[in-house]
Amino acid sequence: MRGVTTSGSADLVILANRLPVDRVRSADGTLGWRRSPGGLVSALEPIMRNNDGAWIGWPGVPDEDVEPFVDEGLSLVPVPMSAQEVEEFYEGFSNGTLWPLYHDVVAKPEFHREWWDSYVAVNERFAEKAAEIAAEGATVWVQDYQMQLVPRMLRERRPDLRIGFYLHIPFPPTELFQQLPWRRQILEGLLGADIVGFQLNGAAQNFVRLVRQRVGHKTHRDTVYLPDGRTVQARAFPISIDTRGFEELARSESVTQRAAQIREALGNPKTVLLGIDRLDYTKGIYPRLRAYSELVAEGRFSVDDAVFVQVATPSRERVEQYRVLRDDIDRLVGRINGDLGRIGQPAISYMHSSFPRHEMAALYRAADIMVVTPYRDGMNLVAKEYVACRYDNDGALVLSEFAGAAEELRQAWRVNPYDINGMKAAILEAAHADDREVTRRMKAMRKTIMEHDVAGWAAAFLGALSEVQGTHSKTLRP
Ligand code: F6P
Repeated sequence: MRGVTTSGSADLVILANRLPVDRVRSADGTLGWRRSPGGLVSALEPIMRNNDGAWIGWPGVPDEDVEPFVDEGLSLVPVPMSAQEVEEFYEGFSNGTLWPLYHDVVAKPEFHREWWDSYVAVNERFAEKAAEIAAEGATVWVQDYQMQLVPRMLRERRPDLRIGFYLHIPFPPTELFQQLPWRRQILEGLLGADIVGFQLNGAAQNFVRLVRQRVGHKTHRDTVYLPDGRTVQARAFPISIDTRGFEELARSESVTQRAAQIREALGNPKTVLLGIDRLDYTKGIYPRLRAYSELVAEGRFSVDDAVFVQVATPSRERVEQYRVLRDDIDRLVGRINGDLGRIGQPAISYMHSSFPRHEMAALYRAADIMVVTPYRDGMNLVAKEYVACRYDNDGALVLSEFAGAAEELRQAWRVNPYDINGMKAAILEAAHADDREVTRRMKAMRKTIMEHDVAGWAAAFLGALSEVQGTHSKTLRP
């Protein structure tokens, strides 16, 4: 029997797989931390400062056992992971089982019992840490698919807490979720929260239906009724970006200059198409490049006056499916450029690297057409970032209907990434649209993301959580 842990001092605890900083080694060999450029941390920073907030997460490298520390005014609480846990919990269960299962089984999920055991052990360690540092009646906000067991584990230890959970990725339909041998444990883990947040309504409905069918609890609309009298709400809170921050950056003189330099370096073509993605098999990079290469082969675009810039950010490089994907994309780009490129004029300008926000903003400004074609995506923030950077109301967005962002960015040219001919037609339509049409669509999308940014997202979730009646829970200072 677990004892109830005595409380700590944080009134707001954010719990995520990763800390909002990366471990970096400088030229002289000393180890330090670098803030990772996530929207989540900037959105939460003010409220964390006002509420003695703390962020629990993994430092991103194995066997790094570091004491809690303060970085630019934020209290960070590292949780260590062994090399074996990185393999079994992070690369294994999180990214070899849950990630493909939750993304429509685009790749085949693997089910291994030792991966599951590691997932339980790591979730337990995170829950333990939150129980230790949260003040009496505090709010704990658990983030994402790596941590789905934490809400229940934490509630068992600390029934006084308000617990929220947010899933950043899709939540699959019942038919797919049921493949998971540990489906009931995951659902019960999530039900430890007071509010379970999703990107879209459909995902919340999938969850409620599964809870009814698999766990047998009574449900009504977005509410689950537990036998002990507690209720859990499952609701959509679509995430967004720091819209104004991106716009400000895009307007800066240095980004303006850099955007012009990029176009110049590309040979000042008439049309620049752009894709920016983590190198992930869910992102639909392969069919997108095939669609474009066919358009070039058919003479619809010419390497004389068009180029497709594709940035693929390295990700999860030790996971087999990601290695295979990298080789596939390398081969495809090589073949397309070999067949269609000319000296100094490739059909595709491909970079396998990650760029800082400044360079991304310059690329967004340099691109006439942004092509975002995931097979399945929780939201896709790149699509929103492109729109945020186009304060000139110019630029066309081609967007997969299977990205969460498609529910809000309705004026994009919508595509089905499984339909290559359909994608080709949409890219051509976007390329040939007249200026007034491009402006009309961009203006409407900009209005949407201006009205709904990441700060609004965080405030909506935490606001809903603060309305939950806890026995002793404190109210957060905004
Ligand atoms: O979209 C889910 C997510 O976990 C993001 O939170 C994160 O930025 C991205 O995938 C990369 O994940 P990882 O932590 O595996 O590098």
